[in-house]
Amino acid sequence: MKKRSRARVRKKQKRALLFIVMGAIALVAIAAAAILSNLPQEGQAFTVEVIAAPLSQEGEAGAALFKMNCQVCHGPNAAGTKLGPPLIHDIYNPGHHSDEAFYLAAATGVRQHHWPYGDMPPQPQVAREEVSKIIRYIRELQEANGIVYKPHSM
Ligand code: HEC
Repeated sequence: MKKRSRARVRKKQKRALLFIVMGAIALVAIAAAAILSNLPQEGQAFTVEVIAAPLSQEGEAGAALFKMNCQVCHGPNAAGTKLGPPLIHDIYNPGHHSDEAFYLAAATGVRQHHWPYGDMPPQPQVAREEVSKIIRYIRELQEANGIVYKPHSM
């Protein structure tokens, strides 16, 4: 009798363990699907909807400079193209990519790391104070689209 009930308990424990394992696998699968569906496939444009923002004077100047130097890859309103990622994206919130990341990107380029587009070539034709204006433009657009500072935890 005692033996039998112990066996039953063990069976229940096994079943509970199986549920936990299956649950964990399901969670991992869901997380992977969510991450993959957010990544662009090769050669596929990954673009976002961007709400145009009222810009400051510096932001306007930055918009013009962006159009000349960055838009070909990052797209109109920095919404992304098949050559470069959207910058109006939570990845580029000021807590994850500070202004310094923009100065560096323009001065030395970017090694492919977040996306499958390849490297960003340096943009030496853009002076540092011009990059400042571009940053202002991007930050104003980001803010209008709900992308705000989040501490970098990853
Ligand atoms: C020839 C295409 C191209 C042009 C032109 C271009 N970019 Fe990029 N940029 C990219 C690509 C591709 C990436 C993504 C690299 C990655 O993370 O995989 C990128 C990434 C970035 C990043 C993220 C940097 C980081 O640390 O992850 C910033 C900021 C950026 N670009 C700003 C600019 C600015 C500002 C300009 C204009 C002065 C510009 N880009 C022009 C292709 C371009």
